[in-house]
Amino acid sequence: MAIKKYDRRSFIGDVAKMGAAGLLPVPEFSLGSTGLFATKPYLQNVTPQGATIMWITAKPCKSWVEYGPSEAADHQAVTAHLGLIDANNLINKIKLTGLQPNTKYYYRVCSQEITEFKPYQLQWGETEKSDLFHFTTPEANPDTVSWVVLNDIHDRPASFPLLMSLVKDVPREFVFLNGDMFDYETDQQQMIDHLLNPLGELFSTETPFLFARGNHETRGKGARDHTLYFENLDDRYYFSFTRGPVHFVVLDTGEDKEDSHKEYGGLVAFDAYREEQARWLAKEIETPAFKKAPFRVVMMHIPPFESGDWHGTMHCRELFNPLFNKGKIDLMICGHTHRYGVFAADPATHNYPLVIGGGPLVTKRTVMTVKADRKELRLLMIREDGVNVGDVRIKSRL
Ligand SMILES: [Fe+2]
Repeated sequence: MAIKKYDRRSFIGDVAKMGAAGLLPVPEFSLGSTGLFATKPYLQNVTPQGATIMWITAKPCKSWVEYGPSEAADHQAVTAHLGLIDANNLINKIKLTGLQPNTKYYYRVCSQEITEFKPYQLQWGETEKSDLFHFTTPEANPDTVSWVVLNDIHDRPASFPLLMSLVKDVPREFVFLNGDMFDYETDQQQMIDHLLNPLGELFSTETPFLFARGNHETRGKGARDHTLYFENLDDRYYFSFTRGPVHFVVLDTGEDKEDSHKEYGGLVAFDAYREEQARWLAKEIETPAFKKAPFRVVMMHIPPFESGDWHGTMHCRELFNPLFNKGKIDLMICGHTHRYGVFAADPATHNYPLVIGGGPLVTKRTVMTVKADRKELRLLMIREDGVNVGDVRIKSRL
């Protein structure tokens, strides 16, 4: 495919047009009869041994999950901290532990309103139980893995059903949100309307998603609450994990301009945060899990190349790229530039293929599917009109 050089100035033009276009209408969702549920449940951090179920209630509640390997769902789970069960809250995060690998589990989420939290006499309201959903834990050591990548939705929830319709028959164990789902983060209603409920209608009751933060997730008054709504592995925004033949490295590339830029009001410290990640990455590429994997895939929002020369790009290039080359990663998947492209490995710069997803404007949106077995990894990037605009095949070095 033709490779266009990235022009930072025209990217700024795209963003300006996005603002002028305004936000798309928010679809309405049915969330139960009592009005207690603000979202459907959504899955996070599903492993062979566990899963985290999240949901938001519209009123303060006590909440629990009923689950089990049959439709009887006769186990219960709550979350407790320091002896206190989470209650009188809105954002629910309940971990199911002790699960068996490669097993189908049924679950429903349940909340009961606390109408008055008196110290010695609680007042209880109605109870709401969700529909019964199910998910399957991964095998402990599977031979394959497959996933879907979305990036740069930028507060356009109608893009989710369009893009996911292009991959509806493609198997995936998780969906990876590769940054900039929002223009900036404001409040919980935005989180619900522009992300959680659209995903809940499409897949997140049965398929988990992971979230690599983009630079736009660091903006706005809600940015500091972002982590309340998600659970990545290790509860961090940079982490690694192995699933089947792929060892994943996820980095949080931070903001695109200098920490001192006036837009940030003196409230960001991404240089130090990226340096912390580089120290971690230097150790990560020496781990047996990294070295022994048939494929090493890096997922992060800002690409270190083909992304202009602003500070965020250049700092990622300076800190991370020597480690990517040294560690011999097989593939990097990014977003951010709003121009999809596949950029071949080049010994002068990056020794690995770099794939950048498009979006957010109409005609530029893309979705990726990646599937790997122990011999081959294949990535397809599909534009919103169904045209395949990227096809990367990588043979295992093992
Ligand atoms: Fe971005």
